[in-house]
Amino acid sequence: PSLSVLPPKCLQKPLLVPHRHMFGPGPSNVPSRILEAGANPVIGHIIHFTGTGHTAMECAIFNTVESGDSVLTAVNGIWGERAAEMAERIGARVNTIVAPPGGFFTNAEIEQALSKYRPVLFFLAHGESSTGVLHPLDGIGQLCQRYNCLFLVDAVASIGGAPLHMDQQGIDILYTGSQKVLNAPPGTAPISFSERACQKIFSRKSKPVSFFLDLNWLANYWGCDGKPSRVYHHTGPVTAFFSLRESLAVLVEEGLENSWERHQKVAEYFHTGLESMGLKLFVKEKKARLPTVTTIVAPHGYDWKEITSYIMKTHNIEISGGLGPSVGLVLRVGLMGCNSSKANVDMVLGALKDALKHCHKSKV
Ligand code: GLV
Repeated sequence: PSLSVLPPKCLQKPLLVPHRHMFGPGPSNVPSRILEAGANPVIGHIIHFTGTGHTAMECAIFNTVESGDSVLTAVNGIWGERAAEMAERIGARVNTIVAPPGGFFTNAEIEQALSKYRPVLFFLAHGESSTGVLHPLDGIGQLCQRYNCLFLVDAVASIGGAPLHMDQQGIDILYTGSQKVLNAPPGTAPISFSERACQKIFSRKSKPVSFFLDLNWLANYWGCDGKPSRVYHHTGPVTAFFSLRESLAVLVEEGLENSWERHQKVAEYFHTGLESMGLKLFVKEKKARLPTVTTIVAPHGYDWKEITSYIMKTHNIEISGGLGPSVGLVLRVGLMGCNSSKANVDMVLGALKDALKHCHKSKV
């Protein structure tokens, strides 16, 4: 019998992906060296993490928290909200501390909440890409240890672009995504666990709700559970791992500290340029500005959507509006990894100037 559903016409044409300057909060541009690494042949399993930053976030929460446990999340943007929702879904008792978008928490505020709620897990976003905040980390890990709580840090938008010292800062679980500063395609998420985290995870009473994210299985898959044999768990995106590996090699060649310094210098150059155009930075405190994703107060009298679409159409540059609590309040520009350069800053500033000249301004 003949097929009753014909193949979609679009699949009979070649795939055409336009080149774009990816200056939004991610994904960022992938250099050809990293793309080519992903064009290597598929082989059997190698080690790394399958999924995006969200998968890593769920993996961390699902494996450390059991139903009825107390969880505390710091909400100063969308990522704390998401972590709270994930913990709620598995029956945790979730409490939050909330700062206005663009703000952050003092260690005293965090300690007060740890002492009040006695959580087993405390979530904090190091790089809050929705609001442009780089959260200070010093001393928080030590507070978590004092309150017998694991310290979970989301570094999706910050790793490689801002200083971070997992061990010295007492971070128990740290994860990132491949598609931001690392400049690899989306779909893989490096994650790391402290000894304290492993003890908690491997001594839990109930099985995690997710089979796919069960670290007992994943530790075996990664070959780091000390067992001599590997049991099939899932088939990872092997060629995406090749690209991720190449992106890490690029970072190693530059040097982590050099990369941190470059992002900081380029961000400061960008911020000065924005202010000299009369635009305002959303994060008031300089030291809390994320060097990878800049939030600009949405220019008064303009429709932010018109600005982002004008810049996309006229300059082939992707920038974005706000996300979660920052929707309508900001424009977001990400200059991450290979995109973090003064030449790219000049390109974005030029595009913004042009947009402010040509987009419609209401007479308010
Ligand atoms: C996604 O990570 C975003 O910040 O938009």
